[in-house]
Amino acid sequence: MPKIVVLPGDGIGPEVTRAAVQVLQKVASDLEFQEFAFGGAGFDKYGNPFAPEVEAALPSADAVLLGAIGGPQYEKLPKPMRPESGLLRLRQVMGVYANLRPVKVFPGLEHLSPLKAEKAAGVDILFVRELLGGLYFGQPRALGEQEAFNTMRYSVPEIDRISRVAFEAARGRRGKVTSVDKANVLETSELWRMTAQKLHDSSYPDVALNHEYVDSAAMLVVSDPSRYDVVLTENLFGDILSDLAAVLPGSLGLLPSASLGDGAGLYEPIHGSAPDIAGQGIANPAAAILSAAMLLRHSLRRESEAARVEIAVSRALATHSTRDLGGTCGTQEFLDVVLEGLGQLALN
Ligand code: NAD
Ligand code: IPM
Ligand code: MN
Repeated sequence: MPKIVVLPGDGIGPEVTRAAVQVLQKVASDLEFQEFAFGGAGFDKYGNPFAPEVEAALPSADAVLLGAIGGPQYEKLPKPMRPESGLLRLRQVMGVYANLRPVKVFPGLEHLSPLKAEKAAGVDILFVRELLGGLYFGQPRALGEQEAFNTMRYSVPEIDRISRVAFEAARGRRGKVTSVDKANVLETSELWRMTAQKLHDSSYPDVALNHEYVDSAAMLVVSDPSRYDVVLTENLFGDILSDLAAVLPGSLGLLPSASLGDGAGLYEPIHGSAPDIAGQGIANPAAAILSAAMLLRHSLRRESEAARVEIAVSRALATHSTRDLGGTCGTQEFLDVVLEGLGQLALN
């Protein structure tokens, strides 16, 4: 019986996670769920955003499903007690170095994009974001009264393993990797570019590889998104570029992610806890539900169930728009449409 650790988190996290769990229960009857307070909710309950109780549940888990964490009430806490620190520690403990963030405009849903329909049509990008290195984790780091600093650091093995993920993914897609860096300024980027190129030449000559600077890529991701297949990049660049790319399908509320390493995977929408709309029942649960689909695919190897969930979500989006997409549909109503769609797909 596969075990899923569920961490609903804060703000809209519990609202969208509830929807994702119901979808999982609908397509798989054999899953065991174990839920914990995490993030700000973890601090409130255990005095720790990533409590030992949660950590102890990880070794026997097949996957972790996370909602979102954070909120204004936690911003003044000492750094290690903040929800964001809990999330970063969770990623580190799980060893999930590869963050996959697919950005796709589903056929027939081009009208949800602010781009002209002909530009939005066919957009299908996979961001492969390095998740355990760079400025997020580099030492030394410090905040002083007059000065603060962080360290951007990457080693060849770190770049190698994430590049491998990007090349492997490209082989199953359109065979193209764009590695995004700032090699005209940063030494870490020079090493990144050299390492990705070397791995390409030795092991993935069948994949097309090009390199772009992050500033220019930021412009091209929204002005000419069809040029991209797999985008390989470091931690902070990937964080920023993937939120930017969320405008392509129409909302941050549509983008799922999977974070993979050598063990269990971590699945979470790319959006945050959205304190501005929490508790109103209007959050878009699509990103969380699509994250559950990625969980079915990557951690449970249930491709047909994953595909069914994706079809049900894209069909629901064709007729129902939540507020972030300019409509009036609430979280529960959207979930009901997805569940009904799944019921129909099962009959066919
Ligand atoms: P956010 O992603 O929470 O919200 C940005 C905007 O998008 C808001 O206007 C919000 O209402 C909207 N939005 C986001 N998800 C939505 C959804 N599913 N449906 C409808 N609208 C949605 O980013 P923020 O406001 O910058 O951050 C809020 C908190 O979330 C902060 O504490 C931040 O650290 C945290 N955060 C957490 C994660 C995570 O848990 N992985 C990711 C990003 C930010
Ligand atoms: C994300 C978030 C996190 C990140 C924060 C909340 C630590 O923005 O998942 O994209 O920067 O990785
Ligand atoms: Mn982010």
